[in-house]
Amino acid sequence: MSFRVGPILVDPPVLLAPMEDVSNEAFRHIVKRIAGPGLMFTEFVSAMAIHHGAAKTLRKMRISDAERPLGIQIFGGDADVMVETALLCEEMGADLVDINMGCWVPKVCKTGSGAALLKDPDLAEQIVQAVVTAVKVPVAVKVRAGWTYELFAAPELAKRFEGAGAQMVTLHARFAKQGFEGAANWNLIAAMRRAVTIPLVGNGDVRTAEDALKMLDDTGCDGVMVGRGAISNPWALRAIVQGVRGHAIPDPPTLSERIQIALEHLRLAIEFERETGTYRDGAFAEIAAVRSLRGQVPLYIKGEPGAAALRNALVAANTFAEVQDMLLDFERGVYGSSFQTAKSCLAIHG
Ligand SMILES: Cc1cc2nc3c(=O)[nH]c(=O)nc-3n(C[C@H](O)[C@H](O)[C@H](O)COP(=O)(O)O)c2cc1C
Repeated sequence: MSFRVGPILVDPPVLLAPMEDVSNEAFRHIVKRIAGPGLMFTEFVSAMAIHHGAAKTLRKMRISDAERPLGIQIFGGDADVMVETALLCEEMGADLVDINMGCWVPKVCKTGSGAALLKDPDLAEQIVQAVVTAVKVPVAVKVRAGWTYELFAAPELAKRFEGAGAQMVTLHARFAKQGFEGAANWNLIAAMRRAVTIPLVGNGDVRTAEDALKMLDDTGCDGVMVGRGAISNPWALRAIVQGVRGHAIPDPPTLSERIQIALEHLRLAIEFERETGTYRDGAFAEIAAVRSLRGQVPLYIKGEPGAAALRNALVAANTFAEVQDMLLDFERGVYGSSFQTAKSCLAIHG
């Protein structure tokens, strides 16, 4: 199974979602190696921030050949500014430019960007048209179903985007006002399928190979995009990729493997920070990277006894060596055993 977006072959038809503070270069390298999705995306990039020369935003557009095919996702509510940033995406080597019309958070929507564009179909179409005209690489759009439950706006919009030359559309099957509440409604993806002939990617609540196959079968979408299920868990994405390819699902990783990959993730994040961050100085770059991953490192060992204790301990970590020591202690059962001891004490005395 695979599909094409212009010159890009998306094989397998499993995509890593754009996720702010998650889908960065370090994580994408790990995901590509372990899971091998058919297409990945950067975190979203503010076109207005790029317009104002924000270095912190520009570095999100750095990509390497090992990650291809890769789309850079941009957001904004001004067609000229979006064109300027789309051209820069091309210059940075993006294989595809993805326009975000799905972000529902107020800080984005109040600027007329992200999901706010679902309320302004003319402007949304104008932006897509302008970007398609400006760049040579394929342009895709990622939408939610609509702004509120009352209006399933996505099919009509998608038709307009297709007419304007967009070559792929992704539907996160929730309404903007819904945030992440409730389940994604995959019937909406099936309805979108009837609206457009360009590749349609379904998104929302895919966590397993079974989910992915069901979404593909039930909705007729060409590909599935996975977000939260892959955070600190490239093996979940690997299982989805293998399932969609019709292969046996590999065994889940051992604890030791998860810890090694968590440390590699951190090492790559430090490298990225050293090469692109405001604090090129080694120590500051290291602190910045360790802090940025404080939330994600513990997710690698989620579900193991003592994981909560380790998560609390990691809040105080500032260096790679500290995180490494904690994780290796964890592997040796130091955190788990105190939990186990407490449990056995309760069993004896309780
Ligand atoms: C931490 C986080 C950051 C996200 N950032 C973006 C983003 O930058 N651009 C975007 O289009 N969607 C973003 N999303 C939404 C995801 O791409 C995806 O549409 C959503 O999580 C639903 O898919 P899932 O159920 O597989 O997680 C983000 C989601 C999460 C959880």
